[in-house]
Amino acid sequence: MAKTVHFVSILGVFIATGYSFALMNSESKAKKIADNLQAVFGILIFVSAFWLASVLDLNSNFPRWGKLKTVLWFLLTILGIFSTKKKYASRGLFAVIFILGFLAIGIAVFKP
Ligand code: HEM
Repeated sequence: MAKTVHFVSILGVFIATGYSFALMNSESKAKKIADNLQAVFGILIFVSAFWLASVLDLNSNFPRWGKLKTVLWFLLTILGIFSTKKKYASRGLFAVIFILGFLAIGIAVFKP
């Protein structure tokens, strides 16, 4: 269950971020919904991550890849907040967000 929530939130955050990027210069309601969904799924990634870590009994010996992902999650959250502000949103910022997002998936799969 924790893993399912983790996966669905990751998919959700990528889709919401894609919409947020596509609607970067829009004042529409859809843009607001995309930004809010990005926030909700982003928080759910964090909640499900530590839920998953406790189900897998990782908390007593927290792995290095887990720490790396936690740092990346913080970075992505801060950049994500900036990306929803018109003043800071740019193609470059979204490119960095997507690259770091893929890096987080790489860390999850290869567990360096
Ligand atoms: C940046 C956001 C994150 C992304 C994109 C992400 C992505 C993923 C992916 C793709 C998997 C499946 C890997 C596999 O089964 O091979 C996974 C599993 C997992 N993630 Fe995350 N994750 C993120 C944040 C976190 C954080 C912050 C933690 C902190 C504890 C975490 C803990 C875990 C754990 C414990 C697993 C299960 C590993 C296993 O089954 O051995 N994730 N994550």
